[in-house]
Amino acid sequence: MAVYAMTGGATGIGAAIREQLCDAGHRVVSVDLRDADICADLSDYNGRQRAIDGIRQLCPEGIDGFIPCAGVGPSVKPPSLIARINYFAAVAVTEGVLDLLEARGGRVVMIASNSAPMVPLNDYVELLLDGEEEAACELADSRDTHSAYAGSKHAICCWLRRRSGELARRGIRINAVAPGIVQTPLSEKVLTDAELGQAMRDFGDSVPLGCIGQPKQIADVVSFLLGPGADYMTGAIIFVDGGHDAMLRPDDF
Ligand SMILES: NC(=O)c1ccc[n+]([C@@H]2O[C@H](COP(=O)([O-])OP(=O)(O)OC[C@H]3O[C@@H](n4cnc5c(N)ncnc54)[C@H](O)[C@@H]3O)[C@@H](O)[C@H]2O)c1
Repeated sequence: MAVYAMTGGATGIGAAIREQLCDAGHRVVSVDLRDADICADLSDYNGRQRAIDGIRQLCPEGIDGFIPCAGVGPSVKPPSLIARINYFAAVAVTEGVLDLLEARGGRVVMIASNSAPMVPLNDYVELLLDGEEEAACELADSRDTHSAYAGSKHAICCWLRRRSGELARRGIRINAVAPGIVQTPLSEKVLTDAELGQAMRDFGDSVPLGCIGQPKQIADVVSFLLGPGADYMTGAIIFVDGGHDAMLRPDDF
């Protein structure tokens, strides 16, 4: 039995990951706003610290894996909330449990998005990567929510790739899945959003495999990345998006 910690296990993709790991006989400690082993609001420092302290208390022997899955979608306002939860919380809690992962040769699987390559490594992404939370949030609030969302996921990908070499030397593998549109409460809010809904529905209609994804299809790949079959993988970003990224950027890999 492995011991995993995660955020965002209450609904959607996180709930599917939690269920799959529990069904396989593993122990999963989940952090979320509600329906969790550790209830914490990850949008601010105190909540992130409560999450880290709670995981340390419940898993003193270390963890075999960590999945920072909590996130909000591109319809959430203000856009700075997207930066705080999707990027700063994911990175802060991961950093806060690295020694627990190191103790057991653990793995991190981050949840990016196939929207990550839709924005460049711009000034907002740089501020995220530099850890400048207030400046990044101020900039996010001066722009649109889609840029805040895609930029937060772009930064997650850059952060994990930049850190993967050093973490490999500590025995920690770190990879990400980049889902396309997946049927969850988050995507439901975007699909019915007055501003983003039509574009999102059109995007969903253009998935090469013909439909949007299901949480289990993301959980299957997360489980693989947490398991022995992915022993030689670190720093990888796996698109699980019905072929959308390949369709949009065929020669860019
Ligand atoms: N659904 C999609 O189409 C899609 C696509 C690409 C990436 N993703 C990513 O997948 C991850 C999971 O999303 P989902 O679609 O399952 O959404 P969801 O809304 O079903 O689940 C998100 C979870 O995060 C938790 N959460 C949100 N804000 C929080 C906060 N401040 N503190 C603690 N927990 C908080 C929620 O309570 C919820 O349990 C997110 O990181 C999202 O960006 C989703």
